[in-house]
Amino acid sequence: MASDVISFARGAPSADILPAAAVRAAAERTLAEDWQRALSYGTGVGHRGLCEWIAGELHEIDADRVMITNGSMEAASLLFHYTVEPGDRVVVEQPSYDRTLLLLGRSGAELVPVPLEADGLDVDALERALADGPIKLAHVIPNFHNPAGCTLSAAKRDRLVALADEHGFTIFEDDPYRLINFGGELPPTMLSADRSERVVHASSFSKTVSPGVRVGYLAGPADQIATLAKRAGEHYISPNMLAESVVWELCTSGALAENVESVNGALRDRRDALVEALGEQIPEAEFVVPGGGYFLWLDLAGDVDTPTLLEAATREGVAFVAGPDFMLDGGESSLRLSFASVPADRVAEGVGRVARALESVRAASPA
Ligand SMILES: Cc1ncc(COP(=O)(O)O)c(C=O)c1O
Repeated sequence: MASDVISFARGAPSADILPAAAVRAAAERTLAEDWQRALSYGTGVGHRGLCEWIAGELHEIDADRVMITNGSMEAASLLFHYTVEPGDRVVVEQPSYDRTLLLLGRSGAELVPVPLEADGLDVDALERALADGPIKLAHVIPNFHNPAGCTLSAAKRDRLVALADEHGFTIFEDDPYRLINFGGELPPTMLSADRSERVVHASSFSKTVSPGVRVGYLAGPADQIATLAKRAGEHYISPNMLAESVVWELCTSGALAENVESVNGALRDRRDALVEALGEQIPEAEFVVPGGGYFLWLDLAGDVDTPTLLEAATREGVAFVAGPDFMLDGGESSLRLSFASVPADRVAEGVGRVARALESVRAASPA
């Protein structure tokens, strides 16, 4: 086995593209200028300045429609805890983010799987699920999907918002990758199209600053946000004010925008290197080329079992996540490659190792 493992498994950027100097400088300015707020308890809403910046700069909504959370996973957890009851039917995309599947699985909800297409959720399939009974909530990752890499089309966003209005369900728009965009134009958020208070949107600074800052947010109907902020305050008094204060400083100083530009440049190079290496070394693999984000979802021919392939890949010194981790059922012929974690000059070698593992698995069980 190679000693230098190349890991396409981690959904996180490699350390070389984390903004250590910018965060250090922002922390210093914060502790000079916003130290009282940064070092005090806040309320369940979190740092008001950051709420205002998010509301004004990212969503053009009133600030009372935003609350800060310790990462967007916590935002999801709060929303599910206070809106989903055992027995509720909840739509999940297939494949979908494994942590959300786990969280919803523990809520006692009945998970209703709806497949993804190259342009996002299969809305016809969602309509068929609605015909079988009411749905409480639909979890949708609209941009640069984790794990599928796809982006929901504008037409499907409009249909989903209209269906949520007509059938009275909540769309949970889980959108941490929107700003990790390699240059294409994205359709507007479903939050911005919502006229019937049916969309709750979550995002975070995990991808635009770093996962360790644990600063995310929820944006939605003002009443619902006020209630969730009150509940959040009962849990933890306030989210981490020091981290929020540093992020606020990054936002208002322009350092965030600079970081997003440089991270997107590096990630785009990694994505390009991965697409090229796959074309050369595993040409039979099928995938949607992601226009941003961290992930590429590889569909291999039905004869390959990706959990078995992962064992062979580990022996070759390369890692990925096998498809079943992202599915309620199935997924054995798919796998997720994260290009965020592998510098561009290591990508071809990593794909070569996957290709060798594939050869050895196929040789061991010829079709
Ligand atoms: C779709 C999706 N939602 C939520 C999260 C959680 O992110 P955070 O670090 O903001 O909690 C992730 C992280 O990878 C994700 O991919």
